[in-house]
Amino acid sequence: MNAGDLVRSVKWMTSLRAVGSAQGLRSVRSAWRRHRVDAVGLPRQGAARARVPGVAQGADPEPGGGVVRFARSSLRVRVAAGGAVFCGWDGAVPEPSYALAGACPEADERAVLEPDTDGGWRVVSERVLVAVSRHGTVEVRTPGGVVLRRDLAPRWWEPAGAAAGGRWVQRSEVAADARFFGLGGRASGPRLRDGVYRLWNTDPGGAFGPGDDPLYITMPVQLVVADAGTHLVFHDNTWDGRVTLWEGEEGAGSGHDRPGRCETRMDGGPLRYWVMVGTPARVLHGWAALTGGAALPPAWALGYQHARWGFGSEREVRRVVSGYRERGLPLSAVHLDIDHYRGHRVFTVDRERFPDLPGLAAELKEEGVRLVSIVDPAVKAEPGLAEYDTGVAAGVFVTDARGREVRGEVWPGECVFPDFTDPKARAWWGGLYAERLAQGFSGVWHDMNEPVSFAAFGDPTLPRSARHALEGRGGDHREAHNVYGLGMARAGYEGLRELRPEERPFVFSRSGWAGMQRYGGTWSGDVATGWPGLRASLALVLGLGLCGVPYSGPDVGGFTGFPSPELYLRWFQLGAYLPLFRTHAAISAGRREPWEFGAEVLEHAGAALRERARLLPYFVTLAHLAQRTGAPYVRPVWWRSPEDRALRDCEDAFLLGDSLLVAPVLELGADQRAVRLPRGLWYDTATGRAHEGPGQILLDAPLSRVPVLARAGSVIPVAGADGEVELEVWAPAPGRTGGGVLIRDAGAGAGAGAEVVRFTTRSRGGVVTVEREGSREVGYRVRVRG
Ligand code: NOJ
Repeated sequence: MNAGDLVRSVKWMTSLRAVGSAQGLRSVRSAWRRHRVDAVGLPRQGAARARVPGVAQGADPEPGGGVVRFARSSLRVRVAAGGAVFCGWDGAVPEPSYALAGACPEADERAVLEPDTDGGWRVVSERVLVAVSRHGTVEVRTPGGVVLRRDLAPRWWEPAGAAAGGRWVQRSEVAADARFFGLGGRASGPRLRDGVYRLWNTDPGGAFGPGDDPLYITMPVQLVVADAGTHLVFHDNTWDGRVTLWEGEEGAGSGHDRPGRCETRMDGGPLRYWVMVGTPARVLHGWAALTGGAALPPAWALGYQHARWGFGSEREVRRVVSGYRERGLPLSAVHLDIDHYRGHRVFTVDRERFPDLPGLAAELKEEGVRLVSIVDPAVKAEPGLAEYDTGVAAGVFVTDARGREVRGEVWPGECVFPDFTDPKARAWWGGLYAERLAQGFSGVWHDMNEPVSFAAFGDPTLPRSARHALEGRGGDHREAHNVYGLGMARAGYEGLRELRPEERPFVFSRSGWAGMQRYGGTWSGDVATGWPGLRASLALVLGLGLCGVPYSGPDVGGFTGFPSPELYLRWFQLGAYLPLFRTHAAISAGRREPWEFGAEVLEHAGAALRERARLLPYFVTLAHLAQRTGAPYVRPVWWRSPEDRALRDCEDAFLLGDSLLVAPVLELGADQRAVRLPRGLWYDTATGRAHEGPGQILLDAPLSRVPVLARAGSVIPVAGADGEVELEVWAPAPGRTGGGVLIRDAGAGAGAGAEVVRFTTRSRGGVVTVEREGSREVGYRVRVRG
């Protein structure tokens, strides 16, 4: 057991105490069982033989590039239409892939392989040049020849006797000024500093803070931002691995630059990766084209939501909902956690405490409040339980190397786990959501799908030797673990879409992998209550957005304990500008309703809620834009100016779409905030005062609000007092133009489409005008500000 596992085990044991010692004891048994299964089921680790590619011997052209043959390997380079570059060593090809949205993109026929100097080869295309040296170094360069990334020749370690396969490592260099982002949801981000980042989806146990790594969603996706350009690298490999990063330094030591470095080590699986270069917007667009547009949440899922582990009863739900209603606070959904299940069994209801869920759901829907259900993947291993019996009959549960069910320990007790890498299991699982729909739920919240099996020691998940279908190819948990949550998200999304095509599915999932956005979003998981947890909440949302997962948000107020009124309020004010705006807390934690923190907090939280409701048309627009363009709702402040180094290092503010810059308060006792502005003119939305960027300004941040700035010239669709969409127009700088877009749902179904309206703004001689593309009438009420 390594140090990380040990710390986790202690955290796990501590958190399990809350559940009762019987469960604690069973988790000891479960950990031993996992250990024993692996002792017989995993291949023995014998001596391994190291291999490097050797010297290039020749090359064979293919559409989009070609294959360079080395003495002991080969490298395929293929530029796809759209500019993404695929590199695959040892014969690796892009498919099959869990990340890719559909068929692999066509090759760019114009990209050609040609001999380079010194016995190397290069592939020249419109947006990128890839140079492969004689010894296997791969350089990704801009068309102008500037090196964005240099991947040194890889090294493999192969088990003796095997023809190929095994561990591998690849070292890379980037510019000295480059900054790293991404790698999934990292609490210490968004800028990833020097350190080791593990690629193994993990429930940290208890609650996490900025020092905990890895967390629930890890992804081998890096976004690298440098003066010379931005690029994204995706190692399409689902195995356990580690990425080590070293930021570079300019003028290090004797005046020479020290490049940034990155080392990717994987325990197995193919060495294949994609690289995309360009502006951040272009790169994320390319990433969405490759891995799929983000599922559009239903409009109500962009409103404020209240969750709670331990709601207790229907009466308690009604009490909370009426608390919002009576105070005139907008509420769009209530989430029920595992305590509404019968003995924690998924797809069941405790009828004593929730005698009429469909009735409750209908009653709440009348007043515009939806019910969302938690869904855990583990099924209680209990003959007579329909989910268990039908699953056994269909042969959908994960087995060990000898074909016996793998059993683990989760909330209901001893459980089995559906194999979400099996299409048959996904179809069976998707069908089970009919029960949730019949109970009146409008959406689902996938939890514990790293997957978790409580363990008193070691890794709290399935044995690594557990068998998985892997879409018919067959393999074990070492390969399937990281895509377990992704497969569950797919099963849930596809099930709901089939069961109720007239409404877009609302799925958000604690675990996942590259491409999970096709099925829904995610949330922070169990973020520890405290100021560091508040900061980590923003880091997670920003980092995930840069990995293509735009819809997420934290447990507002933190998952554990009792936030101070100030901390709660600051969390609330941040949450109001994040895609998923939801309070949630553990069963043992204090209340999270805004009125539980005193009159002052209630007043200011109410203002944040009303502002969120006012911005709903903007959020809907951003959701559509995220789906169409890959641009996350929440973007780092350097999004449009990646060349601004001071912005690259700014981690405590963000852009909400193109128009707003939000500077949340992340510190105790602060009543002012330094805000770093991107270039252009910005208005403080509270005072209307204009500030010219780039540069840093100091703004008031009283308890009543956090600073929010609007970009001059922007058009922000908002809900007017009568609920109708109106346009908030921020005056362009004198003599300049601006613009914006409004996207409205054309219907509630998954393929319903949208209505897109574009506007241009102009400021001439002190007069601001707004024009609508393709129409003489603007068609919306306009309010000019600034
Ligand atoms: C862990 C989840 O992260 C948390 O949100 C949930 O409340 C508990 N599981 C109980 O279901």
